[in-house]
Parts: sequence; structure tokens; C-alpha cells
Amino acid sequence: MTSNQPQNPVSMPGRDRFTSGLGVLAATLGSAVGLGNIWKFPSLTGANGGAAFILVYLISTLLVGLPVMIAEQMIGRRARADAINTLRKLAGRDRRPWWLIGAAGCLAAFLILAFYTEVAGWVFAYIFRALTGAALSTDPDVTSAAFSGLVSDPTQALLWQWIVLILITAIIIMGVSKGIERVTKRLMPILFGLLVLVCIRSLTLDGASEGLTFLFSPDFSKLTGPVILTAMGLAFFKLSIGMGTMITYGSYFRDDQNIPATASRVMLADLLVSMLAGIAIFPAVFAFGFQPDAGPSLLFITIPAVFASMPLGQVFMVLFFVLAAIAATGAMLSLLEVPVAVLNEQFGFSRRKAALITLGLLALVGSTAALSSSTLADFKILGMTPFDLFDYVTSNLLLPLGGLFVCLFVGWAWGWPEVRAALTNDGQLGNARIARAIFGLTKFVSPVLVLIVLLNGLGIIQF
Ligand code: PFF
Repeated sequence: MTSNQPQNPVSMPGRDRFTSGLGVLAATLGSAVGLGNIWKFPSLTGANGGAAFILVYLISTLLVGLPVMIAEQMIGRRARADAINTLRKLAGRDRRPWWLIGAAGCLAAFLILAFYTEVAGWVFAYIFRALTGAALSTDPDVTSAAFSGLVSDPTQALLWQWIVLILITAIIIMGVSKGIERVTKRLMPILFGLLVLVCIRSLTLDGASEGLTFLFSPDFSKLTGPVILTAMGLAFFKLSIGMGTMITYGSYFRDDQNIPATASRVMLADLLVSMLAGIAIFPAVFAFGFQPDAGPSLLFITIPAVFASMPLGQVFMVLFFVLAAIAATGAMLSLLEVPVAVLNEQFGFSRRKAALITLGLLALVGSTAALSSSTLADFKILGMTPFDLFDYVTSNLLLPLGGLFVCLFVGWAWGWPEVRAALTNDGQLGNARIARAIFGLTKFVSPVLVLIVLLNGLGIIQF
């Protein structure tokens, strides 16, 4: 780090920024860590054979996730603008519509929020259910009925989603440094602390070792084509890439932030949280004789039954859902910031107005996801409920497309001299070799891998 910071020619005066390296780390990690670690990672690992799945996920994270994350943060910081304007500014005289990457990212972030806020709403509801003991039963049939009761009641589903929406909008209105940075800096250490506590409880149960064996000994016979592609898709979702989030956050990074180092730390810490979530969940699942492959219902049906079976289970269930709520909040803030920054900087709305407009639109579109298990259960588009459709379109289409085009832009249109200048902080960091390696991955390796995920997601190629 140096005090002699490069002056960015396109920087907009008065634009909010993260105030410290720690703030950048907390906010970015807050974005990466989310329901992906606590809901998706364990359920996918459980359903796809454990350690072998994790291994592919690790490789995808290194070869695709990390380079794309670095590329996004890099272009965001260089342009210091919202996701659409970043591409517009950096494309310069290149007449191709690179800005569409930002527009698609903005749409993806909005659609992810439409269903993510609903799942987050269930998590918030489960904190209260755990507190009152309402969701606790050792019988999975009872916990299953309790979960259906929540998701199929339109009033409750909408209420919890709106509570979540209002909470994140309020934080976003406070601003980048005073809202996002302050909140994530306080919440992230609490999340780690709670997670370690729940892990200790899980590991000290009789019969915990079976769960660890499941997590750490790979069974390669489970590695089919679709499983490999699912693991790659998860790497995308986990690191919040392909949808403008990291571009937008990168635009608030300090000039002296070492982007490759920051992104690597975020990736490692995010992996650690996923592994800790696995260690918190699977030993307990096995210790009480439950099946690890329950899929998405693992969090809301199996886990409450597991907690009900263990000593001090109610306390640990409250802690567990509080940590899940914290994780979801950091991720949602980063998603919401994408459209808010666009409305603010492209359309000139004040930050408050931009956040309120997004809130209104989300309440409208998101409610179709919230009602997907009740009022709108029979309303299908392309054979899917709105909830499933938003998840499908983002994970299988918009995210890989966003990632692919970011790679193409950085590797082929922007080029090495710009990348070297951006990643070495104009030659001040002495990390040119790392920058070169990242450039090589972004130019040749990541796009090919992403293209495979994309084509498979669309059913054009099948493994
Ligand atoms: N990375 C978050 C998670 O794993 O839960 C989800 C997410 C956040 C996806 C932000 C995309 C994003 F832009």
C-alpha cells in the first residue's frame, strides 16, 4: 500500500466509498457469504455425494470464480461508476454494446432478490419459531408440516418478505460507508463466532465422525457431468459474480486496495464459512440418523428436527438461524446496491428515491415468488412457478452470460496494458506476475468453462 495513490481520470467527485481496507473486506465477504453457504452449499453437497462435489466446487472457484471476481472488481474501481456506466466508460470508442453486461447484471440482481428475499424471510421467521419452540420437533413429518404451513400461507409469506425488504432498503438508504460498510463490519465477526459455536456443538455429539467422513472422503463415482456443472454454477452464485455486484462494490474500493489479495481473502474466507456450515450440519444430521440428501428442505425441515434431538437444541437453533439471517442480509445488501446505484447514477434519482423505487418494484415482482407456494402455485411460466423461474433464469442464463462477457471484455476488448495498470495500481504493487496469470485465466480458461456451464444450463449440450 502506498500514500501516493493513482488519480483515476474518470472518478466522480463526491461519490461514496468504503473507508478502510477492513471495510472493503467486510462488505465484499458479506456479499459472498449468504444463503449460498448455509442453504445451497450443504444441500447440494448432501445431495451430490459429499467430498467429491466439494473438490469440483473448489477447482471451479479457483479457475473461474476468483478470476471473474477480480476482473469485476477491477473494472468497477477503474471506472468508479454503476454497473452500466462502468462498461460504457471503459469501452471508450469500442462501438459494441458492452454496457449490456451491466444492464443484464442489474436485471439478474433484481430477479435474484425477488426470490432470495423470500428465502431470507423464511430464515427470519425461523428465528422466532426457534425462540418460541414452535418449529422444534424430532419428527421430520411435523417439521415438514410446519414449513409447509409457513410457505403456503400467503399472509405470512408476504409479511416476512416485506420485513426483509424494508430492513435492507433502510440500510441501503444510509449509504455505502455509513450503511453497508458499518453494518457488515459489525455483523461478519458475529457470524463467524456463532458459526464456530454451532460447529463445536455439532462436533461434540456422539456419532459426529460419520458426518465428517461424509464431508471429507471423496466418492468419485458420484461425479457425473451434471454434478460437475452444478458445482461450477454454485461457485458463481457463491462469489456473487456475473451480475454486477462485484463491479458495483469494486467502484467503491479505495485506490490503494490490492484487488487480487482482497478477492483471494474473500474467496478463502467464504470457503471456510461453507466448510464450517458443513461441519455444523452434517455431523449432527448423521448423529441423529437423518439423511444428508434432503435437498433444499434440509435447512427448514431436517435441521429443526436435528436441533430438537440434541441437548440445548433450542438455543443452538436460535443461534443457527440468527447467523443465517446475518449471512443473508450482507448478500442482499450487495444485490440491492446494483439497481440502486444504476437508478442513482444513470437516472439521477437521489439515493433514497432510487432505493424506494427498487423497494416498490421488488415488493411487486417479489410477491409473485412469495406466493409461488400458495395463491400462485398453479401459475406457471415455461412450466415453472415464478420462484423457480427467477432462480432458473438467473443461475442458468444471466449469471453465466454476465461472467462470460466480463471475461470477453476484460481479456479481449480491454486488454493486457489496461489490466496490468488496474491490477498493479499503476505499477505500484509489484504483483505484475499474478496480474498476468489472472489475465491469462480470464482470457482463455474461464470463458471456455463458463461457456460449457451456459450451454449445459440451456440444454444445448448434455453430459
Ligand atoms: N453469494 C451469495 C450467497 O452465496 O448466498 C448470494 C449472492 C449475493 C448472489 C450477491 C449474487 C449476488 F450478486
